[in-house]
Amino acid sequence: MTRHFLDLATAGREGLRAMLDEAHRRKAARAGQPKGRVDGDAPLAGHVLASIFEKPSTRTRVSFDMAMRQLGGSAMVLSSQDMQLGRGESIADTARVLSRYVDAIMLRCAAHDTVEELARYASVPVINGLTDLSHPCQIMADIMTVEERLGRPVTGTRWAWLGDGNNVLHSIIEAGSLLGFDVLAATPQNYEPDSGIVACAQARGGHLDLVRDAQAAVDAADVVVTDTWVSMGQDGGAEKVKAMMPYQVTPELMARAAGDAVFLHCLPAHRGEEVLDSVMDGPQSAVWDEAENRLHAQKAVLLWCLDKLG
Ligand code: CP
Ligand code: NVA
Repeated sequence: MTRHFLDLATAGREGLRAMLDEAHRRKAARAGQPKGRVDGDAPLAGHVLASIFEKPSTRTRVSFDMAMRQLGGSAMVLSSQDMQLGRGESIADTARVLSRYVDAIMLRCAAHDTVEELARYASVPVINGLTDLSHPCQIMADIMTVEERLGRPVTGTRWAWLGDGNNVLHSIIEAGSLLGFDVLAATPQNYEPDSGIVACAQARGGHLDLVRDAQAAVDAADVVVTDTWVSMGQDGGAEKVKAMMPYQVTPELMARAAGDAVFLHCLPAHRGEEVLDSVMDGPQSAVWDEAENRLHAQKAVLLWCLDKLG
């Protein structure tokens, strides 16, 4: 059966753990080497990934391209606007055609249904590179970063989310319920996470608290995480910014978290809005490691999708 990576639950607890272990292992094995050097075993030699973007990207675009190069394969980056997809060719027909040319497809799009439909008609693995609903690749990198910084497995840690109840939070909630870490999400009223995602995580036995008070969320947290207040395709506006202000990540808020707490942000950051410079550039910030780990985590995702994991 074709293995798609549309959400974290698709891979299940064991699949996620295997990918995370592989990501740590491959990162360590190539430490200090030039970034374009192919990993010794070149596990994806001869394989090609097509990355399709309906929305802008810096990290996802470059990290998937580099991931394929390091695994011995290659990648092509496409904008949906430059494809016939942009002028009405169906997702299903695009999936059928691309499956004849490439070995895997990564898609960043608005509607989650689009990536699901692509997967339904593709005969090669499809990877979710962010939708309005979720961002699973990001959370693989986030977990990897937390494990590196804390020096222990993510299971049993306590994560505090501050701000908008968005796609990144949804994948954190899903990951928490699969891998057994606590999520305390502080959001303003009307900006809570999707109720379907919350219900699924709770049904799985995940420890999830939805709160209003930012301070209560960060108390003794091992991880403090936020994201832009206005995601791609959303309307911002003064009203939303005003509602989000109490959730800004400040040094005072960080001081309430555990002494060795890690600050994460998927980037791009809006310094002075969701986070202050002193936190972004401070000693607890792991945002650059987190960005780097997109590369290492996605190599493991690609290997899992193509059934090449250990
Ligand atoms: N974090 C993230 O997905 O970044 P890009 O939008 O730059 O890909
Ligand atoms: N929530 C953000 C994440 C960007 C990587 C967005 O969807 O724009």
